[in-house]
Amino acid sequence: MKKAVEIIKSGGLVAFPTETVYGLGADATNEDACLKIFQAKGRPAINPLIVHVSNLDEAKKLALFSDDALKLASLWPGPLTMVLPKSKQCNIANCVTAGLSTIAIRIPSHKIAQELITKSAKPIAAPSANKSGRISSTTLKHVIKNFENQLFILDNIESKAHGLESTIIDLTTTTPTILRYGFITPEIVEKILLKKVKIATTDSDIKAPGMLLRHYSPHTNLRLNASNLNEGEVGLNFDSSKLSSEFSLNLSPKGDLAEAASNLFSYLDELDEYCLLNNIATIAVANIPNAGIGLAINDRLIRAAAK
Ligand code: TXA
Ligand code: MG
Repeated sequence: MKKAVEIIKSGGLVAFPTETVYGLGADATNEDACLKIFQAKGRPAINPLIVHVSNLDEAKKLALFSDDALKLASLWPGPLTMVLPKSKQCNIANCVTAGLSTIAIRIPSHKIAQELITKSAKPIAAPSANKSGRISSTTLKHVIKNFENQLFILDNIESKAHGLESTIIDLTTTTPTILRYGFITPEIVEKILLKKVKIATTDSDIKAPGMLLRHYSPHTNLRLNASNLNEGEVGLNFDSSKLSSEFSLNLSPKGDLAEAASNLFSYLDELDEYCLLNNIATIAVANIPNAGIGLAINDRLIRAAAK
């Protein structure tokens, strides 16, 4: 941790675990440091980053909190990102917000993430720790695979991560709009705000380039909602589905969506590696119920399957 804090303070990059996925962090107030994130990920400069802070007071220095935003802040620390108008005194580097007048903020609950932010005494800009467009990293092994030894990585000594990136909600629109599905479901948000939210669709005004259709891509093709296994496919199962090949995995044999979400990216990565080694063209994925956390899982799968 001591070394990680020194690196952040001196304008370097640190990969660190959060309760969602691993982040690739830099001092969000340091333009040069944050430009290194875009470079390391191969991320287009138009795609802004999430700023991670340790508590609500710090968040309020960077953004304007409406009543709705304050209500949703009850879900912090946790897997929720709010897009808010920047405050006047917001000192975040320009590249982080890609020149927008809004800022995406989150307070992570993971102990290591919290400690890194608090000890560095800086807001930390961090996208997921993967190459742009690829599967987000939920394991140390996967971070290393993406960046080899280009980076300092803080290990995860905590329990298993949720496995999917945070829910993103835009509170700068008249009706709050979910830009990215996650563990905080639309129902949870509506219960707190006591009103309906909108769901951004790909043809509406896309504000989160993470919503671009092709994303989270493995090298191997995906065939979704598979009820059988064709020749030359491996299976990714859920619940009691039986797509069994020489090598198949089950996201959650007991049909638990939270468990399935936490396994999704690492299992996709494992199957992808197996397919590449064995010259297999397609991963067949069983049907996942499209409700609750299943919305977020299917969202990631549809993007991963997009050509
Ligand atoms: O769980 C997470 O959110 C993880 C961990 C590390 O915190 N981070 C993450 O970051 O998933 P990233 O960069 O992979 O996704 C951030 C998304 C992008 O789709 C980006 O376009 C959107 O947030 N975003 C950032 N600032 C925005 C803004 N001002 N308005 C709209 N979307 C924004
Ligand atoms: Mg990402």
